[in-house]
Amino acid sequence: MQEKILIIGACGQIGSELTMKLRDKFGNKAVIASDIREGSTELMQSGPFEFLDATDKAAILMIIHKHQVTTVYLMAAMLSATAEKQPKKAWDINMNSLLYVLDFAKEKLIQKVYWPSSIAVFGETTPRIDTPQKTILEPATVYGISKLAGERWCAYYHNKFGVDVRTLRYPGIISWKTLPGGGTTDYAVEIFHKALQEGSYECFLSENTTLPMMYMEDALKATIDLMDGPFFKTYVSYNVAAVSFNPKELAEAIRKNVPNFTITYKPDFRQEIADTWPQTIDDSLAREEWNWKHEYDTNAIVKDMLKNLKS
Ligand code: SER
Repeated sequence: MQEKILIIGACGQIGSELTMKLRDKFGNKAVIASDIREGSTELMQSGPFEFLDATDKAAILMIIHKHQVTTVYLMAAMLSATAEKQPKKAWDINMNSLLYVLDFAKEKLIQKVYWPSSIAVFGETTPRIDTPQKTILEPATVYGISKLAGERWCAYYHNKFGVDVRTLRYPGIISWKTLPGGGTTDYAVEIFHKALQEGSYECFLSENTTLPMMYMEDALKATIDLMDGPFFKTYVSYNVAAVSFNPKELAEAIRKNVPNFTITYKPDFRQEIADTWPQTIDDSLAREEWNWKHEYDTNAIVKDMLKNLKS
């Protein structure tokens, strides 16, 4: 059967670039983008697009039938900072959409599912340096609770019904095409825009808040490699890591390219969230099992971000 892909949440930070990557790989017509809002001209004009509310089960099913979808990438989610402000709505969006898609896979209406988890599944009681694959999972945020529950639902549907659902625990994702919306790691994207527009940035995290981060190119590679590979025997949501830095270190790396750049710090409620997340991640299982390897280090990320945002 020809692979037909539906991306739910195709206009978000990751969805927008994932859609274009998959269209390059499988052909424009084989990748249906969907979201509650329109995306970039590039995304809207390069292939099929459907307006879709990820919490509307009947609407998802209709699109699956209409396009004979075989694979769903469920990228719609409310991120950590926004979710703290609307806990019930976040739970509704993050959980119901996943359960609908898992049910469709269980009923064999689709063959394969991708669902992103996050470093937000970890919490204060987790070791924060080289955070292991298997460790204490006591997330303190609404977003983290939904990601942990989602991981367990994926495992349940896999173990009980043989559903092919694959998931990664993304760190903060850095990219220039589409802004992230409402996350705790968003500072690492905002900082580049401000550095170029204003030469200064007021950071909502303190200077020594170290968090795991990854460049979009690497995140897309991890996602597509995982989905392309054979299905693993034991179900896990893989830790994947690339770099770790704090706002001060990132500012210094930017200053090498934007010499007069200045940064000030005014931590807000997002500091509390960041303080419960790991600083560095042990992703050796992904590296061993499916040869995961990142390419972009901090300096390469900074150079590429500035180059693209400038043009
Ligand atoms: N980038 C996400 C957030 O900050 C973490 O998965 O919410």
